[in-house]
Amino acid sequence: MTTVIKGGTIVTADLTYKADVKIDGGKIIEIGPNLSGDTTLDAAGCYIMPGGIDPHVHLEMPFMGTYSADDFESGTRAALAGGTTMVVDFCLPDPGQSLLDALKRWDNKATRANCDYSFHMSVTWWGEQVFNEMKAVVAHHGINTFKHFMAYKGALMVNDDEMFASFQRCAELGALPLVHAENGDVVAAMQQKLMDEGNDGPEGHAYSRPPSVEGEATNRAIIIADMAGVPLYVVHTSCEQSHEAIRRARQNGMRVYGEPLIQHLTLDESEYFNKDWDHSARRVMSPPFRNKQHQDSLWAGLASGSLQVVATDHCAFTTDQKRTGLGDFRKIPNGTGGLEDRMPMLWTYGVATGRITMNEFVAVTSTNIAKILNIYPRKGAILVGADADLVVWDPKRSKTISAKSQQSSIDYNVFEGKEVTGLPRYTLTRGVVAVEESLMKTQEGHGQFVKREPFQAVNKALSTWKELTAPRKVERTGIPASGV
Ligand code: URP
Ligand code: ZN
Ligand code: ZN
Ligand code: ZN
Repeated sequence: MTTVIKGGTIVTADLTYKADVKIDGGKIIEIGPNLSGDTTLDAAGCYIMPGGIDPHVHLEMPFMGTYSADDFESGTRAALAGGTTMVVDFCLPDPGQSLLDALKRWDNKATRANCDYSFHMSVTWWGEQVFNEMKAVVAHHGINTFKHFMAYKGALMVNDDEMFASFQRCAELGALPLVHAENGDVVAAMQQKLMDEGNDGPEGHAYSRPPSVEGEATNRAIIIADMAGVPLYVVHTSCEQSHEAIRRARQNGMRVYGEPLIQHLTLDESEYFNKDWDHSARRVMSPPFRNKQHQDSLWAGLASGSLQVVATDHCAFTTDQKRTGLGDFRKIPNGTGGLEDRMPMLWTYGVATGRITMNEFVAVTSTNIAKILNIYPRKGAILVGADADLVVWDPKRSKTISAKSQQSSIDYNVFEGKEVTGLPRYTLTRGVVAVEESLMKTQEGHGQFVKREPFQAVNKALSTWKELTAPRKVERTGIPASGV
């Protein structure tokens, strides 16, 4: 059975042109004019784009004494509703737990996924076992990325020596380290001070995590990655200080990537000063939302190429879960939703305002991360042979974002009331229509794990350069006589 998407304009990261797309067996088999097939999807007036890839989600994540409320079923349903056709979640071993045991848990959870998915492995503790198992994770489990939390002291945080050891291991294995960059020691001290002074509300969360705390950690991670000879991916880059460190490193020839979130691009710190405790607590995430100057910096980074990816860090908690932190902001589970809203919000606030082009939209929602994760052009491309993960995007369809009509299982939406124009007419996951306008046709369990090979081209180039410039003993001829 073949499907043809007809009458639309293909938009990729580098091209815009009119053509039909023919699909068979979950793959794109032909691109060209006047194609026909067994089923036709009408794309008149629409753009046909690679489905979004969200490389930063936490579905059913064990965190801060609870579990994030969206699991792989509701989370991937929300993704597809918004035009995202692949998500990458973070496998989180408990302290002392085998990485491979933790992976079994994640494999089980993800069997419910409606779209394709992959995992990053988190390095939450350090030891010989972790060192050894990292190799198996890469070689046998198709995972080429390792996440390091520089924050969450006493829980997920790793220290600089552990990070350096892990980054060196990543270099050997051809893997890419990721960092959550905030100075966890300073944050913990500032949190305590705020609590001692009676600042126990959600605004204390923002006060305890200023931009400089993020900028310092980003810079430190960049230096450690450079010493280890490995590329680096900085998740949820939220402020100018962090962006500046990434920009400077890139100008100095380092391979560093930055990932702003749609929340940081479109919501600001005033949310934490709302008189309604629930309103502010629902928006508590790390790093916190920033002011307009930081938002402008992030938009400029996307336009200029110093920042490469827009993600969500989707980690949704219900109002009840958030209320665990009444009287102590440190106990408010950190995280917000966003999977369903990333693409419509970025289109509305980015493409429709002229901040970014349509092609840049495709680059930052799909193609760039597919290349970084080494799954391009299977994902992130409209090419013959690529997976038919596609979104038929109607630039005229609009809606008002509301928790009442969302797929996520939580009881609110941080973008509540925002008007968005630009929504999927169809979302296809490996050729299967999962969304038709507002009609959900997702199939639980349709999603498959996407294996990712190590030694992406950038890893190879960097290790060649590091090898060439490695310290070498100087063989000397004129050796002075001993004792002189
Ligand atoms: O607040 C956040 N971002 N929660 C999810 C975990 C993380 O730090 O990415
Ligand atoms: Zn294995
Ligand atoms: Zn994080
Ligand atoms: Zn995260």
